[in-house]
Amino acid sequence: STTPLKVAVTGAAGQIGYSLLFRLASGALGDRPIELRLLEIEPALKTLEGVVMELDDCAFPNLAGIEIGHEAEKVFDGVNLALLVGARPRGPGMERGDLLEANGAIFTAQGKALNAVAADDVRIGVTGNPANTNALIAMTNAPDVPQSRFSALTRLDHNRAISQLAAKTGAPVTDITHMTIWGNHSATQYPDLFHAQVAGRNAAETVGDQDWLENTFIPTVAKRGAAIIDARGSSSAASAASATIDAARDWLHGSADDDWVSMAVVSDGSYGVPEGLISSFPVTTRDGDWEIVQGLEIDDFSRARIDASVAELAEERDAVAKLGLI
Ligand code: NAI
Repeated sequence: STTPLKVAVTGAAGQIGYSLLFRLASGALGDRPIELRLLEIEPALKTLEGVVMELDDCAFPNLAGIEIGHEAEKVFDGVNLALLVGARPRGPGMERGDLLEANGAIFTAQGKALNAVAADDVRIGVTGNPANTNALIAMTNAPDVPQSRFSALTRLDHNRAISQLAAKTGAPVTDITHMTIWGNHSATQYPDLFHAQVAGRNAAETVGDQDWLENTFIPTVAKRGAAIIDARGSSSAASAASATIDAARDWLHGSADDDWVSMAVVSDGSYGVPEGLISSFPVTTRDGDWEIVQGLEIDDFSRARIDASVAELAEERDAVAKLGLI
């Protein structure tokens, strides 16, 4: 189709935005022209105007238009894809409850705006943290949008896990398949090597080193965000943008045959994850829809880790329910 795909990006003047917008505009989602709808808070609009000048200066052939603004109902009008990146970071002296409340205000308003004005086929990907719970808040505040249209980003964790496993085994990343991140996009997430494969062979068996799996691999993947802040002085941005693109591309165009990806999506009770929580699962995608991969055997080691991360999600849900956000 030559009708442009309308793509909303929130927090467009931020770090991730600075990488994400140029990837979107240069064709990372395919050949279809795109129109960018960029949402920021008012004080950041001047910075955003500068970013738009740079986008203009790239003369991207497939960039059909750019609109910016600070009012969600205007910016989200008719969007087919909404990438919710902007969120309130934890400031000095801010408690966890304050953080949930500040983000709750953002994601209730954006959920309502999407409900009112987005296109009928809208897909909504939440990158801004706490991503799973922000997605839950937006989803709950958008009752007319099917729940399956919301997802939170665990693709960066997924990609980190692939990269760590490739480095350990000496295999190219293209040989690593069937990776899964379970649970919350947080330090409790569970990157699963028992179903992953290296060149078609079971990854845990190929590695053959339970100590590495337990004490190096899992914590390295789960704490990678903190390691990047330590090294770079600011949080992962280009890799987060790249994962946001990977997730959106696969959602719209389908995951690879005979493989799956990790997405945090609303649970239907699969794998004992309580219905209604937005938790990361192995999913296949096709024609803009996702399906949770069924029938994987979960041993006691994996069960305990999935349960711990899901318990954290349930706590976050209870906290935002108490605040009246869902
Ligand atoms: P940043 O602070 O550089 O940019 C965030 C932008 O959001 C700012 O420009 C801010 O003005 C804007 N913003 C705040 N409230 C807004 C609202 N109500 N509407 C529109 N825009 C709003 O942060 P950065 O580095 O770009 O990260 C963005 C988010 O992504 C953070 O929450 C971060 O924790 C999260 N993140 C998530 C990852 C994941 O794997 N799920 C990985 C890395 C970051």
